[in-house]
Amino acid sequence: MAEALPVLPLDDDDYWADPYPILAELREDHRTAVTPEGIKAILRWDDAEEIKKRPEFINEGLEYIEARGFKPGDPLYEWRRYSIGAQNGEDHRRLRSLVNRALTPKSADKVRPVVRQHVRDLLERHAGDGGFDVRQHIRIVPFLSIAAFLEISPDEAAEVGAKMKGGSGDAFGPNVTQEIRDKANDTFAAVMEFVGELVEDRRREPRDDLLTRLIAAEEDGDRLSREELIVLFTNIFSGAVETTSSVMTSMFMEFARHPDQLELLRSAPDDLVRGAVEEVLRYRPGFYASGNKTTQATELAGLHFETDEPVTTIIGGPNRDPRRYDDPNRFDITRDPTLWSFTFSMGPHFCLGQALARAELQETALAIAAHTRNLELTAEPRWLSRVMVNHVDQCPIRYEFVP
Ligand code: HEM
Repeated sequence: MAEALPVLPLDDDDYWADPYPILAELREDHRTAVTPEGIKAILRWDDAEEIKKRPEFINEGLEYIEARGFKPGDPLYEWRRYSIGAQNGEDHRRLRSLVNRALTPKSADKVRPVVRQHVRDLLERHAGDGGFDVRQHIRIVPFLSIAAFLEISPDEAAEVGAKMKGGSGDAFGPNVTQEIRDKANDTFAAVMEFVGELVEDRRREPRDDLLTRLIAAEEDGDRLSREELIVLFTNIFSGAVETTSSVMTSMFMEFARHPDQLELLRSAPDDLVRGAVEEVLRYRPGFYASGNKTTQATELAGLHFETDEPVTTIIGGPNRDPRRYDDPNRFDITRDPTLWSFTFSMGPHFCLGQALARAELQETALAIAAHTRNLELTAEPRWLSRVMVNHVDQCPIRYEFVP
């Protein structure tokens, strides 16, 4: 029974500052837990894998944001209505197959030189500052990568980015406040309007770019509605920047904390870069949790679920499950890189941008290895509370630049 489950202390800032000891205790002693709102939480690898594979657990639709206080007519509500993450079954497969044509590992490779050059430039520019705050400055790298990937001009990218700056990620997290709701609604109203204008521009003057190709797909029978097209574009843009910059920041942080691991990467960058990136992704997942709901009454993880019951998987649980990872709290870049973590989720909604994110993160790791020496943190980063995309407040570093 849910009442008997231990409660995840989501109202406690100390939990967010370092959730791993609490997650470990709950995972080992109780297997599962429950959020303060009463949503069952999955913590072990095998249970997480099962939930994403079983067809009776689907993604939540509009009820997910209704539970967070959004109403029909709110810009975020209307955006969610067409979002790929809120679709299931045939609608979802149709949207995914369209995006998948563009988001292949091969097309992700074209951003590699962009990332390498930008990280190198950032490192050169801020060397010797004594306080280069990665958290503040790294966002430009995934931002310019996704712009290059989507083939929109730097000006258009800057405009979308400025409109998105208001932020929205926390609107999908636990404990959504009115302030978070207002911010998210303003952001989505501005973004949808701007992308709508971009679509009109491309209709008038088609270009050889992703948006024009998506418009062609829309006009090719009614496979993609105007709303779906605008939202799909923003899904890709918004899914790409905050998550990737979170993991990039963690990469700097963990290399600064584990100089032996960075030295190891320097000794064999080509052999170890994949392992280094997979380890940062496992150790510091960019996403806090991944939600589902049931289509029928069922059992999983020793729990009974009613029809239409929401359930959440706390990604830090499976990522540090000792049944899957030897000594899971050790940061070790020599782990087998083919043993993927839960960071990009699994199943039908498995992250569409994982190949792009991995390419960006690998180039960032190679740039750090090649262009820094004596990398260290100059102040302790603190993890923010009640987020959906994990972020620290700051990550100031010092290093010597190697040309
Ligand atoms: C390290 C960076 C990233 C992390 C940690 C991450 C994580 C995730 C996770 C956990 C999901 C599943 C969400 C759920 O339904 O529970 C997801 C889905 C998605 N991601 Fe990513 N992501 C990253 C980068 C990217 C990038 C670069 C893009 C765009 C190119 C992207 C686009 C998407 C899209 C469109 C979906 C929705 C897929 C669907 O519902 O079928 N992500 N991501």
